Amino acid sequence: MSAQNNDMKREKFSSGIAVFFATLGSAVGLGNIWKFPYLTGQNGGGAFLFVYLLCILLVGIPVMVSEFYIGRKTRKNAVGAFEALKPGTPWKGIGLMGVAAAYLIMFFYSCVAGWVYSYVFKAIKGDFAGITADTAKAQFGSTVVGPLPPLLWQIIVMAVVSLILISGVKKGIERVTKTLMPVLFILVIICGIRAITLPGAFAGLEFLFRVDFAKITPPVILTALGLAFFKLSLGMGTMMTYASYFTDDNHMMATSAKVALSDTAVSILAGIAIFPAVFSFGMEPGAGPGLLFMTIPLVFSKMMFGNILLIAFFVLTSIAATTAMLSLVEVPVAYMTEEKGISRRNSVLINSFIILLFGTLATFSADKSSLLGGIQFWGRGFFDWFDFISSNILLPVGGLLIVLFVGYFIKKEDIFGELSNRGRLNNGWLVQSFLFLVRFISPLLLLLVFLNSLGILKF
Ligand code: PFF
Repeated sequence: MSAQNNDMKREKFSSGIAVFFATLGSAVGLGNIWKFPYLTGQNGGGAFLFVYLLCILLVGIPVMVSEFYIGRKTRKNAVGAFEALKPGTPWKGIGLMGVAAAYLIMFFYSCVAGWVYSYVFKAIKGDFAGITADTAKAQFGSTVVGPLPPLLWQIIVMAVVSLILISGVKKGIERVTKTLMPVLFILVIICGIRAITLPGAFAGLEFLFRVDFAKITPPVILTALGLAFFKLSLGMGTMMTYASYFTDDNHMMATSAKVALSDTAVSILAGIAIFPAVFSFGMEPGAGPGLLFMTIPLVFSKMMFGNILLIAFFVLTSIAATTAMLSLVEVPVAYMTEEKGISRRNSVLINSFIILLFGTLATFSADKSSLLGGIQFWGRGFFDWFDFISSNILLPVGGLLIVLFVGYFIKKEDIFGELSNRGRLNNGWLVQSFLFLVRFISPLLLLLVFLNSLGILKF
């Protein structure tokens, strides 16, 4: 197929609103509702939130704008984009690394999404009525250990994601995110309002918003930086791929600020829905990854209209997980369709098959008592390895290389041209500030996370 044909067939989002909701749909996911609250709980509440906000500003937004630049400038998939900018150089390795990271994240993300879908079903069936701490634990245990139910839920998740993706960028991704993201906002606001009107809720709000500077330690800073990365879907070509579908007149710097702000708002709202309730019922905010799955059913079961809220909460988590997965799978799908000439439909099916094949390894090793739970390599099972290699190695390295690439290997005039929409926007000082962050601040901070996660640099 000629390049021209390919260009003509290439889809675009239809408006600025569509661009915003699709991109936000990628950012908002299990990271906001599952990871953000439990990491905030474990890392000192307000102090962690404060550092996290700084990371979003100093690293998150610059990396996102860099990815937007590469994606829209070339209008290609993550691998093709680097090849278009620097043909015949190893830079396209960043794109290939992104494709690998997308697979690894999907292997375990689709598994956790399956648990979330199953919790919607359980809540509707009324399985959480009269729940106690022990039964909450047992419910979670049986959901995770399986072996068949979690696999079936994972297959359902992949079927939903595939159907949406096969429909295309406009009819699939755009339509679903434009409809569901506002619903997600409304649901998370309702859950938040219910939680802050509980007796004793103030302690939870205080925990979330009171900054105790003594709690800001190097490991807290590094955890916050890693989360900012995962949260905003950065470092693996996701935002690049989506930006390749952006409209020509999109003010990409404004989009990145709006997406980062709204994503943070959802995380904070999820925190507002969770912490006051946790405190109000005398539970432990630092409970770890089980916070969402064990504490929330328990907490909601003690409230008036608790079961309806519980269903709402897991529906909103399912929406978040699904829209984030669309962007994850779109990375290899765009790569295969454009670079290997495979049809979109077949490429979605092939990728879903690969994800399910290896995702099974994650699902069967999620818990010590799972089918493959006993298999460990250097102290980690499959599930943990997929998470560790993608989140702690591939994303920070990818992000670092992306900012170095844009900061030092692209001509300044090209960056000004693209980010100002060929001079139509009067945003020179913004681009100038972006260049400063992307050249000096972001690479330094990213280098620190990477060295620390590899254990080379200990604080
Ligand atoms: N941003 C998503 C979340 O917070 O759950 C996760 C994610 C999606 C990470 C897409 C990376 C990615 F490329």
